Amino acid sequence: MQKILVTGAFGLVGSDLVSELQKKHGNDQVIALGRQTIDGNFHGILEQGDVRDYAAMEALIKKYNIGTVYHLAGLLSVGGEKQPDLAWDVNVGGLKNILDLAKDYQLKVFWPSSIAAFGPTTPKHDVPQHTSLEPTTIYGVSKVTGELLCQYYFKRYGVDVRSLRYPGLNGYKAAPGDGTTEYAIHIFYGLIKDNAYTCFLKEDARLPMMYMDDAIKGTIALMEAPAEKISVRTSYNFAAISFTPGELVAEIKKISPDFQISYEPDARQQIAESWPQTIDDSRAREDWGWQESFDLAAMTRALYEGVKAKLQK
Ligand code: SER
Repeated sequence: MQKILVTGAFGLVGSDLVSELQKKHGNDQVIALGRQTIDGNFHGILEQGDVRDYAAMEALIKKYNIGTVYHLAGLLSVGGEKQPDLAWDVNVGGLKNILDLAKDYQLKVFWPSSIAAFGPTTPKHDVPQHTSLEPTTIYGVSKVTGELLCQYYFKRYGVDVRSLRYPGLNGYKAAPGDGTTEYAIHIFYGLIKDNAYTCFLKEDARLPMMYMDDAIKGTIALMEAPAEKISVRTSYNFAAISFTPGELVAEIKKISPDFQISYEPDARQQIAESWPQTIDDSRAREDWGWQESFDLAAMTRALYEGVKAKLQK
């Protein structure tokens, strides 16, 4: 049987996706490719490598008879601004390698785009599927480029590549990293460790968000949908909830009424302001039945329990 390769397996999404794929298909069917942040407690097939290395990726595809790739390896918005050249090489070069291999080895591919593909000229509310894409971060530029590459490889070579414009994704399995939306994860570490947090965005910075379990459910549903249902080959708008730091804090105070919040917006606030606040994802709902399960209250409770259990280990 053809196996599944997950690149970026120990990142924000990979840390949840790999275990879900293992549950569905068996530990021996999923190959986790990591590089810098490999989890020492990982159970499963582990490989180390760099998605920029075409020959190494080709060797992996052959070694394991790979049929599907979830290509998650990439830098996020804040990390990308620290190292723009690296962000381009990994995000665009890595994707190009996987798409070239998909063409030659008939691979099915998932690749995440992001709300970062949008920019200041995009409408702020209910962003339609087809809209202005003029991002101001190198991360966003790499996502728009990637979306167009995916569509090109589908149209030119018939590569079955599918994609979602992820909103801010909030999970607890991976350590929170270099994303603008990730205040919404860091805040739970502040809550549990100090009952306090200093937020790097303004109180009213509204952004599209989603609980990780919903993102994983949507990602797998997209990949399992019949090909004729997929009408978008750039990347689908994909949404669940939108909230501000202030609204998240109000939810957290239902758990811990004494929680102390302060706001010290920095350069990440400018990134947040360049992105829309709400997204119209009706194409995903119509085409392949997307429906989220977690609202803000349910997400808050799940993150609180998850981070607390993690920190008590
Ligand atoms: N969560 C990402 C970031 O903030 C957006 O895709 O960089």
